[in-house]
Amino acid sequence: MDHILVTGGSGFIGSNLSLELQNRFPKAAITVLEDFRSSSFKNLLGFRGDVLAFNAADRSWLDLFKNRPLDTIFHLASITDTTVLDEKKMMFDNVEGFRNILELAAAKKARVVYASSAAVYGSQTRQLKESDGGVPNNIYGFSKWTMENLARQFQGGIKIVGLRYFNVFGPREYFKGDAASMTYKLYLQMKAGKRPKVFKYGEQKRDFIYVKDVVEATIRAADCPQSTSMNVGTGEPTSFNQMIEVLNEALGTQLEPEYFDNPYDFYQSFTQADMSHAMKMTGFSRKFSTRDAILDYVRNYLEPEYAAKAVLGASGR
Ligand SMILES: NC(=O)c1ccc[n+]([C@@H]2O[C@H](COP(=O)([O-])OP(=O)(O)OC[C@H]3O[C@@H](n4cnc5c(N)ncnc54)[C@H](O)[C@@H]3O)[C@@H](O)[C@H]2O)c1
Repeated sequence: MDHILVTGGSGFIGSNLSLELQNRFPKAAITVLEDFRSSSFKNLLGFRGDVLAFNAADRSWLDLFKNRPLDTIFHLASITDTTVLDEKKMMFDNVEGFRNILELAAAKKARVVYASSAAVYGSQTRQLKESDGGVPNNIYGFSKWTMENLARQFQGGIKIVGLRYFNVFGPREYFKGDAASMTYKLYLQMKAGKRPKVFKYGEQKRDFIYVKDVVEATIRAADCPQSTSMNVGTGEPTSFNQMIEVLNEALGTQLEPEYFDNPYDFYQSFTQADMSHAMKMTGFSRKFSTRDAILDYVRNYLEPEYAAKAVLGASGR
C-alpha cells in the first residue's frame, strides 16, 4: 500500500481508517475524497495527506488522478442516513460514485475495498450469511445491493471486495446526527440524566461492532485473495436492554429504559452476522467484546475529561 485513496475519509469509519492507515503505512501517500455532507474536518485533525473536496458521483475529480499513482482504494463515501427517501438522489450519489471508482481502479489496476451494508439483508431475522443478501427493504439498502451487482459484473480485471458492515459504533461518529449509532444516542440521553428511550421492549438485538474492529477488517480486506462480498460484524447480537446495562456500568448510573412504539415498518429488529466467510477470506474476527467496546468508547472517548479531545478528533492517537 503505497498510494491509497479513501473516499468518505472524514466520515466516521473513513476517518478512523485514514488515521490508522497513516499509522501503519507512514510512507504511503494517502488521499481523501470527501464532500463533507455528513462529517467534519475535525475528524481528520492529525491527518497528513491530501484532501479532495468533491462529490464522488461527479466526474470532474477523475482528472486529478491522471498523473497520480494509485494501488489501493477504500471506497466509503455514501449517503448513510437510511431514512433518506429521495430514491433518485440515493441511487445517483451512491451508485454513480461507485461506478467512477471502478473506472478509476481499472485504469490504475488498483484493488478496491468498498462499503456495502447489512441493509442488503432487509428484515430477515436469523444469522445472515452472504448468500442471504439481495432483499433490501429501503432505498439505501437497494443502492448498496446495486453496487454489489455492479462489482460482481465488472470486467476490469481488478480485485473488488465488498464489506457488509453491520451496526458500527465508536469514536468520530459525532457528526452523523440522527444516523449515529444507538450506543452514542443512548449515551447522550443517559449522560444528560434522562432515561434511555428505546422501542418497545428493548429486546431487539443487533450485531453491534466497534469501529476499531471494523478498521482492522477493512485493512485486512485489501489482502483478500479474491473478489467477494463479506460480512463485517461480531457474530453475537446484543439487545438494547443489554447495551443500556453496560452504559449504566460505564457511567455509574442506574437509569431504567423508557419504552415507546416503533414508528418504522422497515426496521431491522434482529441482525446477526455469520462471520465464517470473512474469517476464511481474511482471518478476521473481532477483538472487542461488545461490553469491552462500550466501556472503551465511553471511558476513553466520551467522558468529560476526554470529550473535548474526542470531538476534536484527536483522542486515542
Ligand atoms: N456506520 C455503520 O453502522 C455502517 C453500517 C453499514 C454500512 N456503512 C457504510 O460505511 C460507510 C461509512 O459510513 P459511516 O458510518 O462512516 O458514515 P458517514 O456518514 O460518517 O461517512 C460517509 C462519508 O462520506 C461522505 N460522502 C457521502 N456521500 C459522498 C459523495 N457522494 N462524495 C463524497 N463524499 C461523500 C460524507 O460526507 C461522510 O464523510 C458508508 O458507505 C456506509 O454506507 C456504515
